[in-house]
Amino acid sequence: MIKRLAWAGLVLLSAHAAADTPASLMARYAQQAGVATSALSPARGEAFYRSEHSGKNGATQSCASCHTANPKQAGQTRVGKRIEPLAPSANPQRFTDAAKVEKWFRRNCMDVLQRECSAQEKGDFVAWLSKGV
Ligand code: HEC
Repeated sequence: MIKRLAWAGLVLLSAHAAADTPASLMARYAQQAGVATSALSPARGEAFYRSEHSGKNGATQSCASCHTANPKQAGQTRVGKRIEPLAPSANPQRFTDAAKVEKWFRRNCMDVLQRECSAQEKGDFVAWLSKGV
């Protein structure tokens, strides 16, 4: 009985973890930024994605460096490993797991910008990608 309850709990927990959506992430980032979800800007998200920054080694880089100019296409890491498309229209698994999204925002923003992305930047980014780019 206890075992069965534990299993039910696990199933509930994992169902919960997978329950994030681009819309729920946008709502969360907007709230963190202190703005209405309608104030998130897909245009700003796209500009952010494409803007170039000088990286650690002096070479310019952007989110598009790995995720390509078209986020509906598969990208590549610097060592040539395939990255599945970032746009939910091409890859429905994107933006469905807040922990994963946060992990990669942190890592990639530090990599490209040498700082964490703000909640507004993250919200704009998801707004652009989930518009069906
Ligand atoms: C050096 C290569 C590289 C660069 C540059 C890069 N990314 Fe990524 N990104 C990855 C890899 C690798 C993954 C994880 C593998 C995967 O999920 O397919 C990933 C995954 C993500 C995810 C996870 C999305 C999800 O729901 O699965 C987000 C969000 C993301 N990147 C945002 C960004 C942003 C924002 C930038 C620019 C500031 C950026 N990335 C630049 C390599 C990169």
